[in-house]
Amino acid sequence: MKLFIDSANVNEVKDAASWGVISGVTTNPSLALKAGKPYKDSVLEIARLVDGPISVEGVAMKAGEIVAEAKEISSWHKNFVVKVAMGEEGIKAVRELSSKGVKTNVTLVFSVNQALLAALAGASFVSPFIGRLDDNGQDGMQLIRDIMLCYKNYGLEKRTSVIVASVRHPLHVIDAAKAGAPISTVPYGVLRQMFKHSLTDAGIKKFLEDHAALEALHKK
Ligand code: E4P
Repeated sequence: MKLFIDSANVNEVKDAASWGVISGVTTNPSLALKAGKPYKDSVLEIARLVDGPISVEGVAMKAGEIVAEAKEISSWHKNFVVKVAMGEEGIKAVRELSSKGVKTNVTLVFSVNQALLAALAGASFVSPFIGRLDDNGQDGMQLIRDIMLCYKNYGLEKRTSVIVASVRHPLHVIDAAKAGAPISTVPYGVLRQMFKHSLTDAGIKKFLEDHAALEALHKK
């Protein structure tokens, strides 16, 4: 499974990119607001840090306007993928954009039907939001398993890659991998948690102590 970072914060992306395991970035207007810079500036800086798909979200809501806005966003950088909100207007726009070679990521997906429509319209990516489903008392990860199954039944996973989004904790990442999702987009804090295990910390401490003890022994 590929790991993307879900952030518009340039410092977070820079640090995560330095690990060498991040192959893409997802952003949205809320993340851009948190980053505290004009959205275009943040994503262009991010594009210098990660050489992979970078999802940038538009705000137009009518198909014609979505298409125009998406063409504009995709002209900023070759790696930009335009996030389009799920809905009749969005899907119409995705159909047109995919026929023109503009990459799209259908966002705010909460059901298998929405994921099927995104794939049929030719979206490059689809983003089911598992954390928000969990918050709503539904099983977010079951949606990922169901989408993977339905996509595989018709070979749709070859056309549209599932990005597990709205990830809240490390267990979400493990379960996404077990479900066979091709990509998870993970907030910086959760990515850092993925490195951690108390036995690793204890093991490092013991090895360093034993190394120091051996050095001391042979200095005598
Ligand atoms: C990514 O594409 C989504 O916009 C993001 O994961 C949403 O996460 P949230 O539900 O924590 O806002």
